[in-house]
Amino acid sequence: MLGVCGGIAAYKAVEVCRRLVDAGAFVSPVMTRGATRFVGPATFSALASERVRTSLWEEAEPIPHTFLGRNADLIVVAPATARLIGAYAAGISSDLMTATLLATRAPVLLCPAMHTEMWEHPAVVDNMATLRRRGVHVVGPGTGRLAGGDTGAGRLAEPEEIVAAAAAVLAAGGAGAGASLEGVTAVVTAGGTREPLDPVRFLGNRSSGKQGYAVAAELARRGATVTLVSASALAVPPGVKVVEVETAAQMDQAVSARSGADVIVMAAAVADFRPTAVAPTKIKRSNGVPEVALEPTPDILAGVAARRRPGQVIVGFAAETVSSAEHPGAGREELARVARDKLAAKGVDLLVANDVAAPGVGFTYDTNEVLIVDAAGARVDVPLATKEEVARAVVDAIALRLAGRHTTTATNPDTKENR
Ligand code: PMT
Repeated sequence: MLGVCGGIAAYKAVEVCRRLVDAGAFVSPVMTRGATRFVGPATFSALASERVRTSLWEEAEPIPHTFLGRNADLIVVAPATARLIGAYAAGISSDLMTATLLATRAPVLLCPAMHTEMWEHPAVVDNMATLRRRGVHVVGPGTGRLAGGDTGAGRLAEPEEIVAAAAAVLAAGGAGAGASLEGVTAVVTAGGTREPLDPVRFLGNRSSGKQGYAVAAELARRGATVTLVSASALAVPPGVKVVEVETAAQMDQAVSARSGADVIVMAAAVADFRPTAVAPTKIKRSNGVPEVALEPTPDILAGVAARRRPGQVIVGFAAETVSSAEHPGAGREELARVARDKLAAKGVDLLVANDVAAPGVGFTYDTNEVLIVDAAGARVDVPLATKEEVARAVVDAIALRLAGRHTTTATNPDTKENR
């Protein structure tokens, strides 16, 4: 189902409809009363070869919202206005669109579009946070030209991004979810590196390795051949080969030696700096406070991404501290922004971001809360869950990328599949 709300971006929903149909979807368009003031229903019915539903009351079906809700594999709402977002978050069903959203168990992809002031209003920020927490998928909005000549955040995601995100959501519930990874090779890093100062002291961090081990275990459970490059000493998951390392340099060497793997997941917390020199004997207190000069460590993730071969899936993690007690919803948006920036800076396919300042999230806990972003603008929010559940979502996203790789590289004679 394609839901179209009353905003000027409704004209772009026409292109979304066409692209969904071209991609092989059977599209049932639903328009709000406001939407019909911007675009005529005949446009959507002609493109979708399906009548457009606009009302709870005028349809041939006695109960159109349950009919639509039960039959949909996916509901895409583009544009999703502040009103629709507010009603959906509050559970209000005042028209066919909102009633259908409450009457469905299908995944929902919201594509918000509105003026910047509305998008940043605390009510909208809170409503979006509520919907994301409930597992609603979101693509956009982008930043750019808005109605009336204004510029800012709130522009509807581009139709191709929306269709890519729709495909990703559908595949995550199908091809990606629990998909077998038989024949896939993977390297996963885990734990916090330790950079020695002297024979007894080191610079380190709080990573326990639990999240990286959970990802390695999930990849192996699905049939992948997994090497875990570990700076931690947890129990080795069944079927996983472990290479123990301590420093960033050792981790770099171990990953680089295996950088041809189909999948590389950098869940380790790698030191960004190390002492330029390691004292050969214990630094003595009686000699006074030492001055410790630091130098940067190699950026392992950026290195493997720069040397990547076609078809590889490279996944980075990002430990950020963005949460604030007053604006938890705004924190999540800030996390998404930082995640997208880091995804681009490191040149990776997927970036898993966790706000490690939030309770129960990140270092040492048995739980985590992440969002997974990809270069096409798709985003999966994983609410607070066990690290095993988070690992399943990460591996689903990887499986999805691998499935895409098989179709997009089938004609490339250099790919493994064709050798
Ligand atoms: O181990 P746990 O206690 O279970 O905690 C899990 C976790 C919080 C460690 C994990 O979820 C996580 O966020 N891991 C990444 C931590 C981190 O180093 O984030 P970063 O934003 O500083 O680095 C970004 C990415 O670059 C990471 O994939 C990191 O592995 C990689 N990196 C960083 C520095 C460096 N020199 N080389 C790298 O490859």
